[in-house]
Amino acid sequence: MSVTIVVGSQWGDEAKAKIVDYLAADAEYVVRFQGGANAGHTVIVKGKEFIFHLIPAGIMYPEKICIIGNGVVVDPVALMDEIEELKKRGIDVEGRLFISQKAHLVMPYHKMLDQASEKHKGKNSIGTTGRGIGPAYRDKAARVGIRIVDLLNRDVFREKLQTNIRDANEFLTKIYGNEPLKVDEIVDAYIEFDRKIDPYVTDISVLLHDAYKNGKNILFEGAQGALLDIDHGTYPYVTSSNTIAGAACIGTGIGPTYVDEVIGVMKAYTTRVGNGPFPTELEGEFAEKIREMGGEYGATTGRPRRCGWFDGVIAQYSSRINGLSSLAITKLDVLDSLQEIKVCTGYRYGDRILTNFPVDCDVLDSIEPVYETHPGWMKPTTNIRRYEDLPEKAKSYLARISELTDTPVAFVSVGSDREQTIRA
Ligand code: IMP
Repeated sequence: MSVTIVVGSQWGDEAKAKIVDYLAADAEYVVRFQGGANAGHTVIVKGKEFIFHLIPAGIMYPEKICIIGNGVVVDPVALMDEIEELKKRGIDVEGRLFISQKAHLVMPYHKMLDQASEKHKGKNSIGTTGRGIGPAYRDKAARVGIRIVDLLNRDVFREKLQTNIRDANEFLTKIYGNEPLKVDEIVDAYIEFDRKIDPYVTDISVLLHDAYKNGKNILFEGAQGALLDIDHGTYPYVTSSNTIAGAACIGTGIGPTYVDEVIGVMKAYTTRVGNGPFPTELEGEFAEKIREMGGEYGATTGRPRRCGWFDGVIAQYSSRINGLSSLAITKLDVLDSLQEIKVCTGYRYGDRILTNFPVDCDVLDSIEPVYETHPGWMKPTTNIRRYEDLPEKAKSYLARISELTDTPVAFVSVGSDREQTIRA
């Protein structure tokens, strides 16, 4: 029996779903615990691509139980679309997809407020996915959110929804200058979701506790990445949930003593989508080359991702705040053709070298990365399946990442397909 948490350890898009999909072969339960449909988790099996936004990637295996925890904000429309899409592709979720009664809903006004607020912020915008994530978590914290349990009681749901739409209309019209939303139209459109969602709703804390007691393997699938964490990320350029490993307990209702292992997924370089500090960001032709080689376009929004060198400072920080027990280094193959590869080992700030990640975005904007240069291995790695067969220079590069993070490398990914995964 094991309880393992897989988390993104940079700014998201580290190919977590690929690692989750690989590990899910040995798990019985796969669990999402935070975020919402802002996530775009891509799994490729035998050349076929699946992108998940809310449903755990473990659903690819017919016998796995998949859970959406209370920490997730659920857009009912996105959820139903995803279920339908999976059905069309021959994946049935009935009887093995469960959603927490306590999860909060993302409603149309959340999406409108998200987009209107971004527009209003102008050059200071966060660059959100526009999926209503921030406003939904804001309602949760303000104790006016609507939960799945409310959705199942039509009277309660109608009343809460009417109140919230009226409040949202105040913001939309008076602050953002938008048209108001039509209260009755939204109520009518959403009231029917109770029947659609009811079969999946349960007390997932009980479900997971029983699974644990019965010695089942449980895999937690994080969304986004450590540097997007609302507390520990590059605030305010973050998402609105806690994305680090500790959130797996809060977002599902299990205790920290259950957890055996935390696997941090990191790309062999760094990317970020959206605005905010990115110390090792590359510009121009070289960034474009990495973007093209790595297919660095958002799975949810299609936006081009910003690309840069591996940042040892954020990697070490991420290892600390997540308590990582091992690393999964992904997209190593993207670096196969490079003659030289740089790794950032510290930040020059005035006459000091910082090795601990600074909290202040103004400091991050005025630091200069300190790089060491590694020789590239200049050999294809995509067909390699054993760690010992990797080029020596690639192994040295991985060893350096392990040294900088003080965390062993357990998995290396050399391509997007499930098969292209190496156990170190
Ligand atoms: P939000 O989560 O839509 O509010 O967006 C806040 C920030 O997190 C923006 O910079 C987004 O680009 C980023 N973000 C949200 N979800 C993901 C993800 O799944 N991968 C990478 N970045 C994300």
